Amino acid sequence: MVIGQGYVGLPLAVRAAEAGHHAIGYDVDADRTRTLAAGTSPVEDVDSIRLAGLTAAGLYRASDRPGDLAGFDVAVIAVPTPLAADRTPDLTFIEAAARTLGEHLRPGVLVVLESTTYPGTTRQIARILQEVSGLNAGGDFHLAYSPERIDPGNRVWTLQTTPKLVAGIDAASRDAAIAFYQGLVDQVVPVADLETAELAKLLENTTRAVNIALVNELAPFCRDLGVSVWEVVAAAGTKPYGHLAHRPGPGVGGHCLPVDSLYLSWAAGQVSGRRLALVDLACQVNESMPAYVVARLEQALAGRGTKLAGATVLLLGLAYKADTGDVRESPAAAVAGLLAEKGARVWGADPHVDVHLRTAPGFAGHMPVEADPATLAAADAVVVLADHAAFDYDLVTHHASYVLDCRGRLPLSETVEAL
Ligand SMILES: NC(=O)c1ccc[n+]([C@@H]2O[C@H](COP(=O)([O-])OP(=O)(O)OC[C@H]3O[C@@H](n4cnc5c(N)ncnc54)[C@H](O)[C@@H]3O)[C@@H](O)[C@H]2O)c1
Repeated sequence: MVIGQGYVGLPLAVRAAEAGHHAIGYDVDADRTRTLAAGTSPVEDVDSIRLAGLTAAGLYRASDRPGDLAGFDVAVIAVPTPLAADRTPDLTFIEAAARTLGEHLRPGVLVVLESTTYPGTTRQIARILQEVSGLNAGGDFHLAYSPERIDPGNRVWTLQTTPKLVAGIDAASRDAAIAFYQGLVDQVVPVADLETAELAKLLENTTRAVNIALVNELAPFCRDLGVSVWEVVAAAGTKPYGHLAHRPGPGVGGHCLPVDSLYLSWAAGQVSGRRLALVDLACQVNESMPAYVVARLEQALAGRGTKLAGATVLLLGLAYKADTGDVRESPAAAVAGLLAEKGARVWGADPHVDVHLRTAPGFAGHMPVEADPATLAAADAVVVLADHAAFDYDLVTHHASYVLDCRGRLPLSETVEAL
């Protein structure tokens, strides 16, 4: 039983089905479960043919009926952990999932939380499960935390090949979770306690966010200095030890980096009475990048005798990173919003993002287009925000009158500048 059939839950349920479990993918979104039941995968990492095959074989079943949770042996919670309006952790999805699950809890079962969250959450879940079911975590059923490390689109480090951290509320819970995951992944790494595993996941993602912030902050400085930040990053990246290269960009997005860093700093504030200054600053730097992109664009257009107000700007790639269709927290929405505020007409091209999403909040009012020669030529400027492999970059350089490449993808020329 996997609760939540999104980027994390669906690949896990499919992997469990392939490993011989009878997997039920439960999700409150009835549209999603209907799509899944029809054998169509909305997640890039799960092939629809694979999904349809497992469904036909009776090994996988999508359901939006809470009653289908009855009789499970293992339940994994993989629901969203977003930020509330005040930018603090919003655990309402996890809490709701725990309440639903609590109704169907039996002695001896294993419950695992996989959602990324702050230290202490799994114990909060234990309390909800106990309140609803009357059963004790550890004493009556097993409870574990195992953070998901999936990197959508990564073909090398998959759910199966990426080592999996596992911690339990007690030793028996940890061992039950180890036994479950050993059947699904190549390597299971036991961790001392729940809080260590919860914090390890936040550290992984925050480390990346902070390092990206560093190179993002370097980008304007490099420009003032008259050197290419991309060449600096590549040069430093040749050091074979002690340095991990990170690349600048228009900001960080997705459900992980921008969110998890704030979960971490918030948790430090709650426990120690002091937020993490470095982490908060990194978030601010990353959040400032869309404004920097727009300022650069305004400057470049002015140099070409064009005002941003009234100009047509084509954004290439609306997802938060290359080769995915995930627009959550995508810097493209902030760039589009700032451009619109300044009176620009905004077009967005992204083969991975559904047209209905391209016109969703954040992108509202902006025209979804294809990156074809006529459209590229018609725009006053093209901004590469997510460098999907699906774009034809020769076409872009050939037809666009000006390109601001925020991903260091294109060769520079009179008409192509990089961040
Ligand atoms: N997306 C990633 O790359 C990634 C990687 C590692 C970890 N995570 C973490 O995994 C968790 C899930 O992220 P995701 O990207 O899979 O989210 P998602 O939005 O893609 O999927 C979550 C699904 O849960 C469903 N859901 C919400 N409340 C529910 C409930 N009470 N019962 C049943 N279903 C419910 C939603 O309808 C949705 O389909 C988050 O904590 C995230 O931080 C995500």
